[in-house]
Amino acid sequence: MKLLFINGVNLNMTGVREKSVYGTQTLDEINGDIAAHFKGDECEFFQSNSEGDICTKIHSAQNGGYDGIVLNAGAFTHYSYAIRDAIACISVPVIEVHMSNVHSREPFRRTSVISEVCKGVICGFGKNSYILAGESFKL
Ligand code: DQA
Repeated sequence: MKLLFINGVNLNMTGVREKSVYGTQTLDEINGDIAAHFKGDECEFFQSNSEGDICTKIHSAQNGGYDGIVLNAGAFTHYSYAIRDAIACISVPVIEVHMSNVHSREPFRRTSVISEVCKGVICGFGKNSYILAGESFKL
């Protein structure tokens, strides 16, 4: 399996920001745990705070031989029609993930403009949200 893990805006601050919500591990540490879990697979990790860079990365996956993309778009989830359309541009399946349970938080987090074009949505399991999403591509 070749998997692409994309993290969006502010996810580079994981381990520093709102530790009670997102935990104390850094994104590099979380990515290390994900890579260890998928040790028999090929994993690539990408993070950007730029909406356009995330769209370009999603486009590039079309011809990259990926089996699936695990995308935590961060707050872009809630309003980025550009990322929504980028997902719709490609045939590689994308799973939307969130570390926190977005349905138990502020009302604005219950809106996702990308769910409609994603294969599925996983939220609320911390770093295991990424692992559960990656595993689902093997089912
Ligand atoms: C998040 C949830 C989003 O609402 C928030 O803006 C984030 C992180 C999560 O992983 O729980 O930045 O996607």
